[in-house]
Order: sequence, then structure tokens, then C-alpha cells
Amino acid sequence: MGCRAYCSLVLLGLAVGVLLSTAQAQAQAQAQAQAMGINWGTRATHPLPPDITVRLLQDNGFAKVKLFEADDLALRALGRSGIQVMLGIPNEYLVPLASSVRVAEQWVMQNVSYYISKFGVDIRYVAVGNEPFLKTYKSLYQQTTFPALQNIQAALIKAGLGRQVHATVPLNADVYETSTGVPSGGDFRADIRDLMISIVGFLQNNGAPVAINIYPFLSLYADPHFPIDYAFFGGGAAPVVDGSVTYTNVFEANYDTLIWALEKNGFGSMNVIVGEIGWPTDGDPNANLEYAGRFNQGLIDRITRGMGTPKRPTPPEIYIFALIDEDAKSIQPGNFERHWGLLYYDGTVKYPLTLENGQNLTGAVGVKYLDRQWCVLAPEASIADPNIPGAVDYACQYSDCTSLSYGSSCSGLDARSNVSYAFNQFYQTANQQKGACMFSNLSVITQTDPSQGTCRFEIMIDTGRHELTSNTDRAVARASAVVGIWSVLAAVGLAAINL
Ligand SMILES: *[C@@H]1O[C@H](CO)[C@@H](O)[C@H](O)[C@H]1NC(C)=O
Ligand SMILES: *[C@@H]1O[C@H](CO)[C@@H](O)[C@H](O)[C@H]1NC(C)=O
Ligand SMILES: *[C@@H]1O[C@H](CO)[C@@H](O)[C@H](O)[C@H]1NC(C)=O
Ligand SMILES: *[C@@H]1O[C@H](CO)[C@@H](O)[C@H](O)[C@H]1NC(C)=O
Repeated sequence: MGCRAYCSLVLLGLAVGVLLSTAQAQAQAQAQAQAMGINWGTRATHPLPPDITVRLLQDNGFAKVKLFEADDLALRALGRSGIQVMLGIPNEYLVPLASSVRVAEQWVMQNVSYYISKFGVDIRYVAVGNEPFLKTYKSLYQQTTFPALQNIQAALIKAGLGRQVHATVPLNADVYETSTGVPSGGDFRADIRDLMISIVGFLQNNGAPVAINIYPFLSLYADPHFPIDYAFFGGGAAPVVDGSVTYTNVFEANYDTLIWALEKNGFGSMNVIVGEIGWPTDGDPNANLEYAGRFNQGLIDRITRGMGTPKRPTPPEIYIFALIDEDAKSIQPGNFERHWGLLYYDGTVKYPLTLENGQNLTGAVGVKYLDRQWCVLAPEASIADPNIPGAVDYACQYSDCTSLSYGSSCSGLDARSNVSYAFNQFYQTANQQKGACMFSNLSVITQTDPSQGTCRFEIMIDTGRHELTSNTDRAVARASAVVGIWSVLAAVGLAAINL
């Protein structure tokens, strides 16, 4: 069926090094560069405005974007932007979508057809669920994922979008494994092997790709003895030998394990997309600017050169994770989870990156901030004040303190600055509401930036939300105890966000 966008990439990729001259190969690599995609997550207390985000994507030449849900404002902003969209469906929707094709038709009508016809959004893929077979989910989504995929596919065809939009399922790399420790031993995980074969067969019949998320950082995070150079692309790691092939980075070995698994089950020419890959910058000793820069620059250089892997020379379409940090993501996987962005929450650049067009990554333009002021521990307050531990716990419960954790950007602060950091995170997250800097008389507002060394004391984006809550100001201004701060949060809607 409608094999359009990526089939031409396959042909181009296969030709590299075989038929093309160097000049042609370079031109091909540049064409390939268009294939660089990025994930745009919106689980933030203060999301970067969609119009600014779309301009940021365009300025940096990101031609493809993956959204995790049908965010109305993001989709509108992407209309007629020239950016191709992979539109995700959260796992919570798998049950209703699996239950009836009617539900899927409604979903496609309201979330796909509508944005294509009304706003000119260039939707190319629908990503059904998000890593639904992750081992930690046990069998939670194993009954519903395939029927939901089938219903969405049927609904796309019924809507006349069967050629234009392809449905796939973004999978975690834990859906396959190797019995021999090397890629050629690759096969699907035993408990979902039959299911995977059914799903991949269905995707193939519909001209859709397999989408896989691969995280070398997590290999390192999970295993303290993991050889660190093997996580990167420098070629400096002790090679892993698999027959006639040697691997010097875990990405290639991991990806080829999938290619072997596909081949072993009769899908040797199946198209593969890397739906997520990246490196976080904070929240863990290995999550820092240096490593993230090293990994992501290596990755981008591969994309620029149109590099594939030993087993699959055709380069896959790749979506980097992620564009910007998300301070409201669950930290159940680890404190690094809120720091995957190439850019900070406000669209400022974290570290230099050269993109495929030869330009350096540039930051967001036109971001509005709250006032230049911070909430810190009052100079006269004693660090031994018995109210401090409770106040800090409270502040960190409702704002993001992951940068204070071991091995993170603010873990070197002394005890007083540490408390100030927590107070400020809360104050900014609560849109600098007056009552949000009244920790039992222990805190004070300052105009002097308390940032030091690697630790940034942030000022939040002005989302205009505080204006909506002005009539609650009187109530919260009275609140000088921790309990009063709750009403500030409730007023700005944070209480509802699962931080
Ligand atoms: C469209 O998607 C959004 C977000 O994924 C969801 O809240 C909404 O219910 C969907 N619409 C339909 C008709 O299913
Ligand atoms: C990119 O940044 C580096 C240093 O960060 C600089 O040396 C180089 O000139 C920049 N390149 C461009 C094209 O601006
Ligand atoms: C800083 O605060 C964090 C979070 O409350 C805490 O885990 C850490 O022990 C504190 N460090 C110091 C030096 O007080
Ligand atoms: C805060 O300080 C003011 C003025 O010094 C005092 O009247 C009030 O009781 C204090 N409140 C608390 C909770 O300590």
C-alpha cells in the first residue's frame, strides 16, 4: 500500500557506497538530513508557547516532529509549517480504541482529519500507544494494543487517509533480546513473540514502519559496569565481535539486534524508525552537558552522513528525544527524566551542537519571562530553624528539585543555597504569586540572581496564567504558613498536575 515517504529513503540509502559518486553521496546525505526529527513533549508546568516552539523547529531545520498526544495548540501551530508530524496516542486510550472501530473513527476524525483539512497539518504517522509492551507494565496493554492499531488503521482508510498517514506502535527496545549476547542472537521477547509477529506482519501489510526507542544512556544508568565509551559513537570502546562484524557502540548493536529479530521472523526488509533517542543533562552523574553533547553530536553527525548500521546500511528515520525539558514528567524512571531536552524548558541552548545544515543549534525567540526576581532563604533565618525541612519538602513536592539530587547541576550547593533553590523552584512554578514566597517567615524575595557555578536559579516563562488568578491574591497573601501555600498552587492549577 501507500509506501511513499520512506520507500524513497530506502532506495537512496541502499545506493550509498555502491552506485553513487562522492558528490552524489553528499547531495544524498543533505537530502537525508531532512529526515532529522525530534520529540516535542508538553508535560511542563510552563510549556513553551506553541508558535515559538514551531519557529524554533523551523529555525533549526527540524523537518519532522513527534507529539505524544493530540495537543490542540501544538497541532494548530504546526499547520502549514512545512513540518511533518507523527501524532501519538497515550496508552490510556488503548482500551477504548481497542473496544470499537467507531471510537477509532471518532479519534481519527477529530484528531487527524480535522487538523489536516482545517489547518493543513502534515500528519504522516499516528503512533498508537507509547511503549505499551514495556516490561514494567507487565501485560497491562498486551490485549488492547493490536486491536487499537487495527481500528486506527481501519479508521484512517475509511477517512481516505490510508496512503498519507501510517499507523504504527512506538516500542521500547526491550521488546527484543538476544540469547547469545550479540546482535545475531536477536529475537522478540518470548512473552510477546507471537504478538510481535502479528503486529509487525500487520504493519508490513499496511506499508507502515516499526518504531523503536533506543537509549544508550539507560544502559549506562542500569549497569554501573557498563563500559562508558560503548555508550557513545567515538569508536573508542573495546569492540564487541559478532561473526564478521565488530560493534563499538551500543546503539548499532542494539539496533542490529532488532534487524536480526525481524529477519529471523520473516521481516528482513521491514522499515524501522528510531522514535526516541537522546541523552539527559541533569538528575544523574552521567546526565550532564558534556556527555549529552558528546552523544547527541555523534548522533547528529551520523544522521548528516546518512549512516546506517553493519546489518542495515540504510539509515533509519530518527527522532531525537527531546526538544525541550519537561518539568512535570514523572520521575519514576529517575531524576534525569525531566532533563532530556536539547534546550532548557524556556528554549535556551544548553550546549553547542552543530546540526546537519552546518549551523549551530539556536534558541527560542520571543520568550516572555516573569519578573527578574527570586525567592531565597532570608539572610536572618537560621539554617537550624526547625521549620526548614518541612518547607523544603513541601516546595519540592510541588516543584522540580531534581537538579539538587546526587551528581546533578545543583548538588554542590551549601545547605543555605540548597534551601533557597527549593524555595525558588516553588515560587517560580507558582508564577511568583505573593503567597508563594512565605515559608514561615524564612524566605525573602531578591533581585540578585542567586545562580552559582553549574546551578541555575530559574525564572519561569510568563504563560499569562497568573493574570487569571488575581482575585485569589488576597487570600494567598495572608498565607504565611505552609498550609497557605497550598491555595496558591490550587489557584494556579498546579495541584492538579501530577508532578
Ligand atoms: C483526540 O485526542 C485527544 C488527546 O489525545 C483526546 O483527549 C480526545 O479525546 C481525542 N478525541 C476523540 C474524539 O477521541
Ligand atoms: C558554532 O559554535 C562554535 C563554538 O560553540 C563556533 O566555534 C562556530 O564558529 C559556530 N559555527 C557557526 C556556523 O556559527
Ligand atoms: C539539598 O536538598 C536536597 C533536597 O531536599 C537534599 O536531598 C540534600 O541532602 C540537600 N543537601 C544539602 C547539602 O543540604
Ligand atoms: C512572621 O513575622 C511577623 C513579623 O515579624 C510575625 O508577626 C509573625 O508572627 C511571623 N509568622 C510566623 C509564622 O512566624
